[in-house]
This record gives sequence, structure tokens and C-alpha cells, in this order.
Amino acid sequence: MSRSQPLLSVLRGEIPSRRPVWLMRQAGRYLDEYKMVRARVGSFLDLCYDPVLASEVTLQPLRRFDLDAAIVFSDILVVAHALGAKLEFREGEGPVLSAVRGSVDLRELSAVADLEQLSPVFETVRRVRANITAEQSLIGFCGGPWTVASYMIEGGSVDDRIVARQAAVVGAEWFSDLFERIIETSVAYLVGQASAGADALQIFDTWAGDLPEFLFEDLVFAPIRRIVEEVRLAVGEIPFIGFARGLGVSYLEFARRCGLNAVSVGSSVDVGWLRDVVSPVVAVQGNLDPAVLLTGGAVLDKSVRRLLSALPPHSHIMNLGHGVHPATPVEHVARMIDIVREADTKRGG
Ligand code: CP3
Repeated sequence: MSRSQPLLSVLRGEIPSRRPVWLMRQAGRYLDEYKMVRARVGSFLDLCYDPVLASEVTLQPLRRFDLDAAIVFSDILVVAHALGAKLEFREGEGPVLSAVRGSVDLRELSAVADLEQLSPVFETVRRVRANITAEQSLIGFCGGPWTVASYMIEGGSVDDRIVARQAAVVGAEWFSDLFERIIETSVAYLVGQASAGADALQIFDTWAGDLPEFLFEDLVFAPIRRIVEEVRLAVGEIPFIGFARGLGVSYLEFARRCGLNAVSVGSSVDVGWLRDVVSPVVAVQGNLDPAVLLTGGAVLDKSVRRLLSALPPHSHIMNLGHGVHPATPVEHVARMIDIVREADTKRGG
């Protein structure tokens, strides 16, 4: 079955039947049908832990658009929640967590996560896998340990994450302990998703670029490599996509050191460099600017065509450099996918 999935073909270095397309945050507030479901539940977390509704919103973008992948509807912070952190998503404010800033705070958390709490997400995976076609892939995910740690240390979304960045630079014992717990829980979270039917896994290390370069190995590459290796040891050779923003020239290093099948790159990364240096070694996912998708019109057409002509379909997964902006008109998404499909036809499939 999996041989005919365009996304998996690219991740395995094979020739896909067409260029795969999906969008980060493809289920979400730019869709009216999402907002309707969202209004029926009390909180965003209730939605994540309700397999019937979570599978429904996961499938919504695939009903509307000709996409090659679904991504399970959940959040990277359910890992913090399973570790005992208090977690709430507030309207207009984002996540609010109990802050972990030392060994005393760490003692408030569980040494081992409550995996039972994550089982609704695994049920969502089963339901979605049963409701998409054999050609469509299902992506499971977790956050990069550094990104999850940064939210846990700050206690929510803050602009410069300076408290977390200081903790990283100091590297105290409680910080290493926290990292260790996040890594172990992330492995269990991904193993659960893979066992339930996820075809590929993505790790979102959104704030990797916060770190000084000398900490990339210890706080980004080594922890992600461990997650990749331990998950594969448990479930077999499943493909991984790594999303880490702001790595500069270190994307290739990231892919090589972590055993990734693709790197997902932000919109500021030079397309010529991706074509000449990165894509011959590892598949590239991205990197259309979410502001361009929001804007539409001639700038959208031009940006999509530029990406398509630079990167060949066997080493490129069409996507954004970051998540869909909630104000994005659905027609712009449809248009973007149309351009990708037209280019497929011109190349002869
Ligand atoms: O469609 C998908 O991509 C699947 C689901 C998904 C969500 N979050 C749902 C969500 C995924 C893959 C994520 C990842 C995630 N969550 C990241 C990494 C990727 C990135 O965007 O950088 C991060 C940093 C988080 C943490 C998080 N979750 C924040 C900071 C926020 C608030 C900001 C915001 O966008 O609203 C969330 C909430 C969240 N996660 C929403 C969704 C659909 C919006 C909640 C709502 O509907 O009210």
C-alpha cells in the first residue's frame, strides 16, 4: 500500500507518482468547518483528546483540497501535559503552562509520563488512517525537545524566550533532567502514533534558531537523533521529517546527524542553495512564505512556480515555511495546489 504514497516515495528517495503537497497547520482556523467544530468543544485540549472530533478536523482539509497527507490533530504540548504540567490554551494568548525553572518545580512533575492520557491521540490516528486513501499518507508528530522545554520553562508563549535560553546556556542538572523526560515521553508519543498507523513522523523544533550554534549538537541534533533511533528500534524503519527553524547553514548537518528523510525549511532559506546543496542529499519540504499564501494573486503564482522549477518532484515536498496563517482565504490554498498539479502534468506525471 505504502509504495504508492507520493509523500513516502519522496521520503524514501524513490520517484513519486506526483509531487506531494500538504500544509503545516492545514487543519485550523482558516477553515470555517474547523471553527464550527471548535465552537462545540470547551477547549482546544478537549478537542485534541476527543478522537471523534480530532479525526474529523484532521480530515477536513483533505475533503476540501487535493492533498497528499493528513497530519494528526493534536499539539506538541500534550507531551508536557502528560508529564504533569498544568496546561491551558487561552483565546488570543496561546498556551499557558506551569513554569519549570528549577529542581523544585521539576519535582512537581511526574518522573514518568502518564501515557494513558495520550491514548486518545493514538485512537485519532487509527480513525484517520481508516478514512484516507491508500495513496494519502498520515503524518504523526511531536515537538523538538528544545522547543517543548522552552514552553515549559517560560510557562507559555513569550517573544524572546530569554529565561529558557539562559537555562540552556547554563545547562544545570534540572535542565538536563527536564530534557531527558521530554525525550522519553516524545519517543513513547511517536511510537504510539506509529503503532496506530502513522506512515511518517515529523519533529517540530520551531525555536531551534534561538540557540547559539555551539549548543545545536547537544540540544537539537543529539536529542532528535535519539528520538529517531529509539522510535525506529521500536517500530522499524519509519521515515522522519525534521522541522527546525533558523538553523542557518546547518540544515544538512541536521539531516545527516539525525537520520532524517527530509528537512522542512523556513521561507528565508535560499532556494538555489536548497537545490544545489541540500536536495541532492536529502528531500526538502517547504518553503512557501505563509504571507504569500495569505496574499494570493500574482505573487502567489510566481512564488509557487519558482519553487517548482527549482526543486525536482522526487526531492521536494511542497509545503509552507511555517504554519498556515488563520486569515488565509481557502481559494489561495486551492490555487496553490492547482499550480503544483499543472506542473506535474507538464512534466508528464
Ligand atoms: O494541522 C496541523 O498542523 C496539526 C496540528 C498542530 C497543531 N499544533 C494544532 C494547533 C500541530 C502540528 C501543532 C504544532 C505546534 N504547536 C507547534 C510547532 C509548529 C509551529 O507552528 O511552530 C507549536 C510551537 C505549538 C504550540 C502551540 N499550539 C502554540 C504556540 C499555540 C497558540 C498559537 C496558535 O497558533 O493558536 C497552539 C495552539 C494550536 N495548536 C492551535 C491549533 C489548531 C490553535 C488553537 C485553536 O484552535 O484555538
